[in-house]
Amino acid sequence: MNNHWTPSSWQKKIATQQPVYQDQAQLDDALRRLTKLPPLVTSWEIENLKEQLAEAAAGNAFLIQAGDCSESLEDCETDAIVRNLKVLIQMSFILIYGSMKKVIRVGRIAGQYAKPRSADTETREGVTLPVYRGDIVNRSGFNEKDRQPDPELLLRGYERAALTLNFIRGLISGGFADLHHPENWDLDFASDSPRSRQYHKMVDSINESMHFMEAVLGATMRESRGVEIFTSHEALHLSYEQAQTRHVPRREGWYNLSTHLPWIGFRTRAIDGAHVEYFRGIVNPVGIKVGPGMEAGELIRLVDTLNPSNEQGKITLIHRFGAEQIADCLPPLIEAVKDRQLNVLWTSDPMHGNTYSTSTGVKTRSFDQIISELKQAFQIHGANGSILGGVHLEMTGDNVTECVGGAGKLAEPDLHRAYKSAVDPRLNYDQAIELSFTIAEQMKANGSA
Ligand code: PEP
Ligand code: CO
Repeated sequence: MNNHWTPSSWQKKIATQQPVYQDQAQLDDALRRLTKLPPLVTSWEIENLKEQLAEAAAGNAFLIQAGDCSESLEDCETDAIVRNLKVLIQMSFILIYGSMKKVIRVGRIAGQYAKPRSADTETREGVTLPVYRGDIVNRSGFNEKDRQPDPELLLRGYERAALTLNFIRGLISGGFADLHHPENWDLDFASDSPRSRQYHKMVDSINESMHFMEAVLGATMRESRGVEIFTSHEALHLSYEQAQTRHVPRREGWYNLSTHLPWIGFRTRAIDGAHVEYFRGIVNPVGIKVGPGMEAGELIRLVDTLNPSNEQGKITLIHRFGAEQIADCLPPLIEAVKDRQLNVLWTSDPMHGNTYSTSTGVKTRSFDQIISELKQAFQIHGANGSILGGVHLEMTGDNVTECVGGAGKLAEPDLHRAYKSAVDPRLNYDQAIELSFTIAEQMKANGSA
């Protein structure tokens, strides 16, 4: 095997899930411009996150990685960003309050624009077109023009990611997450539900403790200084990722500066494939989706390839088996990782193994199945002497109707009311807040708090 790595060495391997562009010169031109643009994140932020992920692997912190299945260029607007940030911060406070543990917040945000698909084409009423692969590649409308991969969208995606991140950074440093601003605590949540009462009790209790501490210290506590938000996306479109992969002065190695935490999707994990080749050369911490059919041997080879020095904080395993399969699939993998003493952070994605279609063909997930997989994940790690150090969720701050169940008792006939996702169904605001309480309870119940 040729071990020499460069940001483009993946091009010698088989790259699945890549769009086919009609005009190579146009693509090259877009990539050339992308290569010159400034980075979206910095190497010190990346190193900071890696250290924190190592803490989570050791059980001293907890990762919440959450956001849209697929961001859209159109949704890069003020209110949507504020709502998504708000729910992420509120969820993190619920976890901190419930577990008394540090929480690491990572959005599926500012770059989650490329989607793996199960087929290259889509056929409707006898017409076959290229499949929609995410807003950085093509458009979701079902017509020839929209479905043609457009290299200019790579730049539009990069720009939207930059705008999103710029706004998030401004909000955070401007005090958006400051506990003194009650408007940030407003819960637009079914006010008669027990979770709502629990939430308000928590807010009162935090306020009391804060005022107590301020009286003791004689100073105002500014929580916002401590709130960090990191970004992540599936590094699927390898030319895009390569264009943002850089050397940084006074540091060794190559950083992917388009995001803090890129991950390898379940469909692109082939050990001899282009994605693994790309990932093995970057310094960033990386996520690996782990699901049914992945044998212990395959997982070990993947982790060894991506982290030959067994560096702490480098690997986050994101398992997504589904509520029906986790009990059979997860224990042998935990055993193998323990056996080899590999340093990994285990996290649970209770979304991607629980997707199904209703009888009318609507893609959904059941809140109960999601809760079931999460509870099993905590229990299985506890019983096998391992640590579940995080969760990976698809959610939004909007009140969409994409997943069934939860306190609002959404049923299948309700799904059409506000189904907005172009790809996978997300938890809505209420469901995300409700789930956070369950996570906090599980952290306590399973001794990880
Ligand atoms: C995703 O996270 O949106 C996704 C496609 O997941 P997976 O690779 O686990 O199927
Ligand atoms: Co998804």
